[in-house]
Amino acid sequence: MKLLPVETALTFIEPGPLTLVTTFDAKKPNVMTISWTAAIDFNQHILLATGPWNYSFNALIKTKECVVCIPGPAMLKTAVKIGMLSGQTTDKFQKLHLKTYPAQQVKAPLLGGCIACLECRVTDYIASYGLVILQVLCVWKNERCRDTRLLHAVGDGTFTADGEKFCLRPLMKAKLPPGL
Ligand SMILES: Cc1cc2nc3c(=O)[nH]c(=O)nc-3n(C[C@H](O)[C@H](O)[C@H](O)COP(=O)(O)O)c2cc1C
Repeated sequence: MKLLPVETALTFIEPGPLTLVTTFDAKKPNVMTISWTAAIDFNQHILLATGPWNYSFNALIKTKECVVCIPGPAMLKTAVKIGMLSGQTTDKFQKLHLKTYPAQQVKAPLLGGCIACLECRVTDYIASYGLVILQVLCVWKNERCRDTRLLHAVGDGTFTADGEKFCLRPLMKAKLPPGL
């Protein structure tokens, strides 16, 4: 994994990808699937929508740390399986043969096989809507990942992968944040 400038976090989250969020609590890691993601500013603040019905939630709120990992098409089936199991009863890393790597600034692990992993700190939680606000601390890119299309959940059990990309950078020049 290679460190990218933290500003690049926006380019992974703004498209609203399916994510795998790792946490670390009580001496063990866990991972859950989150499709409700969004970028909310140019200062690497992003949000996840989740709540106390997930085992990961306690760790997220207690440790105030996580890693938001971005799976590509090769990881789709695994991502769905991760979201169908709970860390309360299952060691998902063992059961699904998931590879992890130590992160730099948080205890939650980087997930192998993903396109990118964003180490994050929880900065706020808006309970009425289950919105967890994160500050991205650093961005890792997996240089071995060939198919880097982002995945998107449609919401009915079907998924899409990124399609055609249009470059309108010259038109948006005045609005593009520094570093991108
Ligand atoms: C495709 C998919 C997308 C999901 N998206 C979300 C989400 O955005 N927010 C959420 O709270 N749970 C979401 N889930 C459900 C959690 O991933 C699931 O409840 C998981 O088992 C929680 O794991 P844990 O109990 O180990 O924390 C999703 C599940 C799947 C399969």
